[in-house]
Amino acid sequence: MIIVDRISEMQALMRQYHREGKTIGFVPTMGYLHEGHAALIDRARQENDIVVLSVFVNPLQFGPNEDFARYPRDFERDRHIAEQHGVDVLFHPEAGEMYPGPLTVQVVVKARMDVLCGRSRPGHFDGVATVLTKLFHIVMPDRAYFGLKDAQQVAVVDGLIRDFNFPIELVPVPTVREADGLAKSSRNVYLSPQEREEAPALYQALRAAAAAVDGGERSADAIRRLVKEHIEAHTHAEIDYVEVCSYPDLAPLETLHGTVLVAVAVRFASARLIDNIILELPKAHRQED
Ligand code: PAF
Repeated sequence: MIIVDRISEMQALMRQYHREGKTIGFVPTMGYLHEGHAALIDRARQENDIVVLSVFVNPLQFGPNEDFARYPRDFERDRHIAEQHGVDVLFHPEAGEMYPGPLTVQVVVKARMDVLCGRSRPGHFDGVATVLTKLFHIVMPDRAYFGLKDAQQVAVVDGLIRDFNFPIELVPVPTVREADGLAKSSRNVYLSPQEREEAPALYQALRAAAAAVDGGERSADAIRRLVKEHIEAHTHAEIDYVEVCSYPDLAPLETLHGTVLVAVAVRFASARLIDNIILELPKAHRQED
C-alpha cells in the first residue's frame, strides 16, 4: 500500500493509473475506520483495479460548536485496516495541504440540505461538497463509494456529481450494523454503557415503521409518530428529528409513495446518532404531495 500526503504526488500517481487503463474506486473517509468503512473498501475492491482511500478530518464541515477537535483519530489503526482490506493508495493529507489559506471559492449546496441533519448543521453540506470537489479532482476516480447510513450525504453527492458533471459513478452501499441493529459509526465510541444499550432502539423503531408500511400504512404522520413513540419509550435520548421524505430529492411527503426515506437523529448525552431506512413503494399515479 502506498501512503501519499501530497496533492501533486497523488495527481501524478492517478494520471499514471489512468494512462495504464486502470479503473479507480475511491472511498473518502474521515478515518477512525469501522466495519461500515470496510464494507465500502471491500465493495470498491471487487469493482476496480485500484482502490484509493482518503483519511482526512475535514474542518470545513464542522460547525463552531461541533466535535472537530474531539473527533476520534487513530491513523496507525486506519493504516492497518486499510492494508488488511487491500487498499492500494491511502491519501492522508494535512489540513494545511488541503487548505493552504482561506478559500477563494466554495461549493454551496442549494437543495437537499435544509432538511434532516442539514437543518441543524448550517454549512455542513457546503463543507462536504467543497472537500469532495477537491478530492474528486485529486483522485479522479471512476467510482466513489458512500455509506447509506448518511443518506442525506449520498443525496447531496448525487447532486454534486450530476450538477458539476464529474465523470464518476456514485455507488451507495447499505448500512453495516452491529448484531443488535445499531448502525456502525465512529461516534459510537462516545456512548456510555447505558446509552449503548438503548441505542439499538433507533433501528427497532425504523423496522417497526417498515412493518407498518408493509401492513398498508401510507400516512407519513403516522409513521413519524410511531418512530418517535418507540424511541421515547426505549431511550433517554432527545429526538432531533424523525422525518419521512422522498429519496433522493428529500421532499416532504404526506402520503407515502415511490422511494421513501425514513430518517432519525437523536442526541444522547455524549453523542448524536443518525439512522434511516429506504422503502420502495409503488409510485403515485398523480402527484399527491
Ligand atoms: O462521510 C464522511 O466521512 C465525510 O463527510 C466525507 C465524505 C469523507 C467528506 O469529508
